[in-house]
Amino acid sequence: MSKSPLRIAVYPGSFDPVTYGHLDLIERCAPLVDRLIVAVLRNAGKEPLFSTEERVEMLRQAAAHLPNVEVDSFDGLLVEYARRRGACLLLRGIRAISDYEYELQMALMNRRLAPEIETMFMMAGEAYSFLSSRLVKEVIALGGDVSGLVPPQVETKLRERLPPSSSNPR
Ligand code: PNS
Repeated sequence: MSKSPLRIAVYPGSFDPVTYGHLDLIERCAPLVDRLIVAVLRNAGKEPLFSTEERVEMLRQAAAHLPNVEVDSFDGLLVEYARRRGACLLLRGIRAISDYEYELQMALMNRRLAPEIETMFMMAGEAYSFLSSRLVKEVIALGGDVSGLVPPQVETKLRERLPPSSSNPR
C-alpha cells in the first residue's frame, strides 16, 4: 500500500513582529496538517522594524510548543518557495472584509502561477480580529499597553526598539 504524501502547508507573512493573532492561526492550523512552515518574507518592500533573523527567532520562540511547526524565511515568489518545500497548501488569515480583496487577488495570482497549490483562509480568532503588527507598533511607540496581544518576549523587544517617545512606528 502506498503512503499518502505529507500534507505540508506554508503560512507566509511579514510577521513584523508576530502577534497572538498569528499564533492563534498557527495553533489552529498545525493539527490539520503534517507540517506547517511559517515563512517570513525576506525582502519586504518597506523596511521592516525587525530583521528577518529577529522575526524568525521571535516566531520560533512563540511556536516552540508545536512540534510540527517549522519557522523559515523566503524571498522571491511565494509559490516557488512552496513548491521547493513540497507544500500543497498556503495558509492566510482573514480578519475583516477589508482583508478580503487583497487576499483574493493574491490567492488568484498564486493559483494562476501554481494551480496545484491551494490557498486556505482561516478566520482570525474573534479576540484578535482587530489586531495587526502595524497597530501594535503604533500603540507601543505611543506608550500604550499591548499585553495580551503579543508574547511577552516580543513586547520586550518592541519596547527596546520603540521607546515610548518614538513617534514614527513602521
Ligand atoms: O504579512 P503580509 O505582509 O500581508 O504578507 C504578504 C506576503 C508575504 C504573503 C506576500 O507579500 C507574498 O507572498 N510575497 C512574496 C512575493 C510573491 O510571491 N508575490 C506574488 C504573490 S501574489
